[in-house]
Amino acid sequence: MKGGVIPPAGGRRMTQRARLLLWSSPARLLKAKLLLASCVVFAVVLIMGLAFSAAIWPHHFPVDGQPQARRGYTILINTFKRNDLLKQSVEHFASCSRVDSIHIIWSEADPPSDFLLACLRRVAHRNSRDGRIVEIEFDLNAEDSLNNRFKDIPELKTDAVLSVDDDVLFPCASVDFAFGVWQSAPAAMVGFVPRMHWLYRTSDGEEYYKYGGWWTVWWTGTYSMVLTKAAFFHRKYLGLYTNHMPAAIRDYVTKNRNCEDIAMSFLVANETASPPVWVKGAIREVGSSGISSLGSHNERRSQCVKDFAALYGRMPLVATTVKAIDGRRSWLW
Ligand SMILES: *[C@@H]1O[C@H](CO)[C@@H](O)[C@H](O)[C@H]1NC(C)=O
Repeated sequence: MKGGVIPPAGGRRMTQRARLLLWSSPARLLKAKLLLASCVVFAVVLIMGLAFSAAIWPHHFPVDGQPQARRGYTILINTFKRNDLLKQSVEHFASCSRVDSIHIIWSEADPPSDFLLACLRRVAHRNSRDGRIVEIEFDLNAEDSLNNRFKDIPELKTDAVLSVDDDVLFPCASVDFAFGVWQSAPAAMVGFVPRMHWLYRTSDGEEYYKYGGWWTVWWTGTYSMVLTKAAFFHRKYLGLYTNHMPAAIRDYVTKNRNCEDIAMSFLVANETASPPVWVKGAIREVGSSGISSLGSHNERRSQCVKDFAALYGRMPLVATTVKAIDGRRSWLW
């Protein structure tokens, strides 16, 4: 709307200028008048355009053509002993449109209390929109392993899965947009947190990989993974991770308590021979800092990239510089 306000102000300045020019040559005066007229026309067109788009254009897009499994998504929240964060997360994501259900991956020894379940159902129902009821399910796990977050869930009703950590929040508008991107590329991982594998060479010519954190991605605009702390992917990858990925990789993840997200990125890249898609979106980390703030974090992640590449016998990750942004929020082409 601001754009609609500026031209008239500029036009007024132009009038003063035109008055000054009154005493100069007639040709200059004509130019000034033409300039003034084009400013007015531009302002009118802009204001009409904005009014037209607000009044006439739809704000929701029909999804009728799609089969049921493609219309919504399931949220998988990975949590561990942080019920307050879990509650906040459920409360927020239940309010997003097209959420089918929320599955909470529970790896504590004691099952969740009835009180917690009732509390989560209450906040989810209170926040559900458009007359839907967002179901809350707990997926209980006997073993405390990071592989739990990618266990196959046969009863899922949607093809799309949104995997999130319990301490990551991002606006529903970003969720909706990322879901739209995923629908265009359902075989890809679509997420908000990009990372890169960099190839280095030692002085005696030996090649090795290093994990690139957020600032190398920011600096180069290049990435080859999106982290599953905030990413959409197809549910078929849960089955592949649990049942078809080499057991050596799952054992590695359990033993090292790290890198399940890198393992998933390798799996999808190996299946698709394509890079993931990075979606622009504001993500907010709440709660205390997780493992990623520990000093040795990047060395451990680099070790995972090296070890997984060795287990695959090649490097499946594919790098890209593509970034998906919302056309409504990028004004200029
Ligand atoms: C990688 O993909 C190939 C081809 O689809 C498949 O045969 C192989 O088992 C996959 N490797 C791993 C480690 O999953």
